[in-house]
Amino acid sequence: MSEFAYADFINGQYEPLLSTDQIQKRITELAQEISDDYENNCPVLIGVLNGAFIFMGDLVKQLTINCEVDFIKISSYGKAKKSSGKIDVLKDIDCHLEGRDVLVIEDIVDSGLSVKFLEQKIKSCEPNSLKFVSLLQKKDSAQVDFEIDYLGFWIPNEFVVGYGLDFAQKLRNLPAIYILK
Ligand code: IMP
Ligand code: MG
Repeated sequence: MSEFAYADFINGQYEPLLSTDQIQKRITELAQEISDDYENNCPVLIGVLNGAFIFMGDLVKQLTINCEVDFIKISSYGKAKKSSGKIDVLKDIDCHLEGRDVLVIEDIVDSGLSVKFLEQKIKSCEPNSLKFVSLLQKKDSAQVDFEIDYLGFWIPNEFVVGYGLDFAQKLRNLPAIYILK
């Protein structure tokens, strides 16, 4: 089945934004950069569920350093396309972060509220360092001050699906990224 067949059920209300090739090329570059920067460390990568699962899988396979992985699940938008601003931890980080070099792996940054929440939460564990990786960041949508240290792509301020990103939990399995109109 072609990748388009999965999206047919939303009546063709989508537009290709990033191809699998574009995504993989950029991930290779990010992995190289991170591997260089953490050459003598063993960072712990914290994937933010559910959206980051595919990106994180592809990214870690290309890292050439020792690392550990763990996950956190925080509340998502539910069926809304905009953040409610209220964030709950649905599955907490298991590993001990004190003194560790921590890299948070996000799928997409929109308002920045999730990143801000994670920054405060992880900083309270006293890591040695904390940096943020995100595959995507929306232009002109930040509501708070934050910094993404390793960014895949700036994208327009539109709702996107595929490659781990959902709309109402569906379409995560699309291999490329589409704008949902
Ligand atoms: P923020 O807290 O507003 O920055 O939103 C971050 C989270 O909302 C991301 O980690 C995603 O899980 C979700 N999200 C934001 N924009 C989109 C989108 O366009 N498509 C799918 N999920 C999104
Ligand atoms: Mg997310």
